[in-house]
Amino acid sequence: MPRFPAGFYWGVATAAYQIEGAVDQDGRGVSIWDTFCQRPGVIADGQSGAVATDSYHRWEQDVALLAGLGATAYRFSIAWPRVQPDGTGPVNRAGLDYYDRLTDALLAAGITPVPTLYHWDLPQPLEDAGGWMSRETAQRLADYAAIAAGRLADRVGLWITLNEPFVVTALGYMLGLHAPGRALLLDGLPSAHHQLLGHGLATAALRAAGASQVMLTNNYSPAWPASPSPADEAAARAYDTLHNRIFTDPVLLGRYPDLSAFGLGGGDDETSGQAWVHDGDLAVISARLDGLGVNYYMPTGVAAPPDAADSPQPFQLQPISGYPVTAFGWPVIPGGLTELFGLLAGRYGPALPPLYVTENGCSNDDRPAGDGTVDDQFRVDYLDGHLRAVHAAITAGADVRGYFHWTLADNFEWNEGFRQRFGLVYVDHATQARTPKRSYDWYRRLIARQRA
Ligand code: FCB
Repeated sequence: MPRFPAGFYWGVATAAYQIEGAVDQDGRGVSIWDTFCQRPGVIADGQSGAVATDSYHRWEQDVALLAGLGATAYRFSIAWPRVQPDGTGPVNRAGLDYYDRLTDALLAAGITPVPTLYHWDLPQPLEDAGGWMSRETAQRLADYAAIAAGRLADRVGLWITLNEPFVVTALGYMLGLHAPGRALLLDGLPSAHHQLLGHGLATAALRAAGASQVMLTNNYSPAWPASPSPADEAAARAYDTLHNRIFTDPVLLGRYPDLSAFGLGGGDDETSGQAWVHDGDLAVISARLDGLGVNYYMPTGVAAPPDAADSPQPFQLQPISGYPVTAFGWPVIPGGLTELFGLLAGRYGPALPPLYVTENGCSNDDRPAGDGTVDDQFRVDYLDGHLRAVHAAITAGADVRGYFHWTLADNFEWNEGFRQRFGLVYVDHATQARTPKRSYDWYRRLIARQRA
């Protein structure tokens, strides 16, 4: 592996609902994921994050695993309903205490804490009041940001506001596949704007509370047209707008992209002609950022819908073939990450802040061998390929400052329950025993060499 710049963050990423469990302990409120998981048939094997990997109780063990890895940074998320059970009003001290202890333990181990405020676990009372379809939720996020940073910003410098607002809008509010399970199709679009507004308001709140660096994490996916036909190219551009641009153009350029493919107003109009965009919102949303978090898993194949006139959307997704696939069926395409950095640089130029890969990883059908070891050579190859892709982008001029592998230990993978294993550490979900896999050891040795 070629050498990365000095000070590059070598990290891993997790999210509260996927690891903490203890959903009804020490005053935690109910989140939309607690509620959603109770719907019959939405989560594989009827599972939930009620116990997850019990990191709420086993956090010291997890910090020891991070320290053993030699990680220099740890991206985790703060559970909003643990800190402010109703999403408004009273603060739950016991919830804040948990993140306080975690922060101190990370710092004592020489690991930079990088908290994400919102990794999808909206307090249920806020959803009952409209969730991200309501403009009020943006202000609630800012209030919660002030609470979290009020407690931690004396020790935590780098903050992430939102994780993957595209996924929240697309799967949570348009298709109903994720919490809160609303299938509003294009009528779900206001949830995108309100998250972006929440990001902007939270950015100001974080800075006011002493945070030194603020970033937003998006998941990006190069849109690959299924063929060079003009129809497929146009479909890929429409998908690219929805997935990649709506959540970045307003933040970095202060305007929405052209939404005419969706029958909506265009980018030259400050408000995009949408009633939910108020005067001044884009100035809030485009507040200066210190970093952009990039989650990358794969490109997306896109074709024109077969019957364009009748299609509810101007594209149709197509599987990409010809590559190895993960246990999830996702194609493994490290070059897509290098492509993505080029795309961002071309699109945003000097407006692009420093970049951090805040998630990248793969699920694999890991099983312990007779001697208990877990040989995930597949993940080693995945890591090696993607880190080389990051390095190639840096060589080509991209300012990438860190890499956070998804994830530390096998955890609750949303709709897939515990079926997909993304960890560097194997978790026996019956006993919660943690066993580092071959990939953990590989990453540990790589980090040690890079830091030597
Ligand atoms: C991302 C999510 C993360 C994890 C990975 C596999 O979209 O941010 O929580 O589930 O996918």
